[in-house]
This record gives sequence, C-alpha cells and structure tokens, in this order.
Amino acid sequence: MKVLVIGKGGREHALAWRLHQSESVWKIFCATGNPGIHQIAEPVAIAPTDFAALIEFARDKEIDLTVVGPEDPLAAGIVDEFASAGLKIFGPTAAAAQLETSKSFAKAVMREAGVPTADFESFDDADAARRYVRSRKRSVVVKADGLALGKGVVVCRDESAALQAIADAMDLRRFGAAGNRVVIEEFLTGEELSFFALCDGENAIALGSAQDHKAIFDGDRGPNTGGMGAYSPVPQFGAELEARIMREVISPTLAAMNARGTPFRGVLFAGLMIDGDQINVIEFNARFGDPECEALMMRFDGDLAATLLAAAEGKLTEASFRLSPRSAVAVVMASGGYPGEYAKGVEIADLDRIEGNAPSEIKTKWALNKIRVKVFHNGTAIRDGRLVTDGGRVLTVTAMAPKLAAAVDAAYQAAEMIRFEGRHFRRDIAGRALARISATGGASV
Ligand code: AMP
Ligand code: GLY
Repeated sequence: MKVLVIGKGGREHALAWRLHQSESVWKIFCATGNPGIHQIAEPVAIAPTDFAALIEFARDKEIDLTVVGPEDPLAAGIVDEFASAGLKIFGPTAAAAQLETSKSFAKAVMREAGVPTADFESFDDADAARRYVRSRKRSVVVKADGLALGKGVVVCRDESAALQAIADAMDLRRFGAAGNRVVIEEFLTGEELSFFALCDGENAIALGSAQDHKAIFDGDRGPNTGGMGAYSPVPQFGAELEARIMREVISPTLAAMNARGTPFRGVLFAGLMIDGDQINVIEFNARFGDPECEALMMRFDGDLAATLLAAAEGKLTEASFRLSPRSAVAVVMASGGYPGEYAKGVEIADLDRIEGNAPSEIKTKWALNKIRVKVFHNGTAIRDGRLVTDGGRVLTVTAMAPKLAAAVDAAYQAAEMIRFEGRHFRRDIAGRALARISATGGASV
C-alpha cells in the first residue's frame, strides 16, 4: 500500500513509524510532517485543510489509504471529501467528529445512549446559564461547546468563578464561535483515564488505556498543556475495567451514532473519570491523543495499515493485531516557557546519541532488559542543516519495557542525553502508577 499521513506532530510520527513497519506498506507520504517523519515518509507541502489539493495528490499518486492525525481536518470534513472522491481514508466524517467538536452534541448522544456522564445542561443564552449556576449548590464545570485548543474548560470552585467563565465564553467571546453555546456540568471526582477504541462504524476493538499528564509541572501544578507525558497500560485499571468501558461506553455510543445515521469510524478516545466502581465520560475525542499515541504505538503489534484500512472499510472484524503486554511511557520534552511564550530555532544536540548511537553500556543495558527506546519529533525543523526546535512540545522520548519502572528509567535516561537550551520535561510521568506499584510490593507489574 501507499499511505498518506496527515499531520506533523509526535502523534503522526508514531503513526508513520508503525505504518512504516507494516508489511502491507511500501511507501509513505506525509502532509506536512516534520524532520523525524521525513526520515521515513516523503514530505508533501500541502496544508491539512487544503482538501482539493490533497485529493488531487492522492489520486495522482494512487494512495491506497490516508490516515488523519489531528482534529481540525476531521472537523472540516476531510473524510467526507475523500470518501466522495472515492478515496480510502481512516477517520470520522465531520458529522461523526461532532463527538469531539461539539460538547453539547457529545452529551446529547451520551444521554440518549445511556452512557454515564456528569449531569449537565447546555445553554445558548448567557442569562439562562447564569440562572442555572445560581440554582446549583455544588461546584460546576463550564465548557465552551466547540474546539477551543483545550482552553475552553473551566473547573469552577464557586459561583463567582462560574459566572466569570460564562462571561468569558459568551459575553467576551474569548473562544470566538466555540463559546456561543456552553455546557455546564457537575464536578466529578476520581482519577482520570484515557481510553482508545478503534471503530469501523459498527464494531470496536480496544486499543488500550493510557494516562496523560496535562499540567506543565510535576505534581500536576501549573497551567495545562497539550500533554507532557503518558504511559500505557495503566496498571491500576485492568482488563475487567477495560471490558466494562467497551460495554458501557464505547458500544452504546457507536450504536447511538449508527441510529442517528452518522456511524463513527476512526479512533474513539474517551476521557474518563474513574471513582471506585463508577465510570463517567468527561469528554470524547475523535482521534488519537498526543502523547498517548506515542505510547500506544510502541505497544501496537501487527500491520497498522491493514488494521486502519479494515476500520475504514467497515471490516474491523477481519483485522488482527495485539497490544504488547509490556509498559510504554512517553516523556515530552518542551521548549522553555511553554505553554506560554517560547523561542523557536534553538539547536537540538545529541539526539543522534539515542538513535542507534547510545553509549555501549547503555545500549547493552537496554538490550539485556528488553528495553526499546524511540524518540518521536513533535515540533522540530531543519535550519541550515541543523535540527532545531520549532514548537512548544519538541520531542517525545518513548520507551517500552517488560516493567513500567524500567520503561520510565530508560525514557528519562534518554531524555537526559538530549540537550537544547531551555529544555523542560516533567520528572514524574507515570509517578502515580509507580507509587502504587511500590505500595503493593511490585505485585504483577
Ligand atoms: P475536557 O476538555 O472536557 O477533557 O476537560 C479538560 C479537563 O478538565 C479534564 O481532563 C478534567 O481534568 C477537567 N474536567 C472536565 N470536566 C470535568 C468534570 N465534570 N469534573 C471534573 N473535572 C473535569
Ligand atoms: N493529550 C491529550 C490530547 O491529545 O487531547
């Protein structure tokens, strides 16, 4: 197969890397990619939202499968356009992607499907939203309905914070049209879990769980980012919970989407809150997470291209892959200042020490302990022949090992070797799971 990947971050690098290892793939293109991706894929200088040009390219090159990473082209209908041009593409239509692009839509589907989620109301009118907040006794979460770069959600400690959040979204229009409508929901307590399912419209297969680390600093302090690290699987949430999530969340959601005439194909990413026996959906995304995808792709064992094509064609029951039982961890190396202002064009040194050139004692240690390390590029560029930073999140250092602790050690050992001025990464990725493992004497993990 010839495959076209859409996107340019760590998620797309991880997808391209696994596609590259797929037996069925002999050529990969990427629009637009990054220097890491361009080691394995031919660059295509077409913007992810220039559908006409992408379709012309896919026709001209006889692309067998297009794989879409980010939400923006999905929201804008890339899958609809490719499908009507008779081209195979992996991802949801714009109508199905509303599970991510409209929180009120997602909540309505969940209510209809009986999927557990926080009690809520949707409002198009700011005064009605204010009256609702005043009538509530408990803490609420105010959410701009549309895509707001992860900034549209405010967990409100008290009434005045909620009124401010409503004013920001609806009166001051801080998120533009994304805030014309707000969803106000009850505050949930518990532990967050990301769950991924591959869907073909009717059937779904679990792609595993992961935990993201959204805050910039250790201990979940500081402002939120796109994600500073992830690990998979999440040992405290085992196979039984996974089966319940498939049964109580994923299957009914797919059935409801089907009943509406907008079947969901692609990756359904459920952001969950787990509190004892209680599962609640916080949100859906219609794509892989970044950096969760990097950890999941380390564990993916099979022909990714054949699997994604099967999902795109509604034939997921014919797909065969497995997820390694090993633990994968992804540590994001960010630019100094991120998620605020940061410099670009800072030279990155010593990345080549990891890719095949690690000092021999480290290589031996990794080999003896069945550790694999892979660095994915998020925001990098080549300037004057040198690799430089080109984004807030720069690299995702990913490791997989039979035990989580060994994967974490290896990822940090590798991250320490890569240098760029101002580099920043969290030191506590997977820390919660490691603490639990040591508290239980390392049982099973
Ligand atoms: P979302 O964009 O909807 O995933 O929300 C971003 C973050 O806000 C989530 O990852 C949670 O940490 C938090 N959050 C959202 N909704 C709730 C809720 N109902 N209760 C508690 N925390 C929430
Ligand atoms: N890491 C969270 C996301 O990609 O949405």
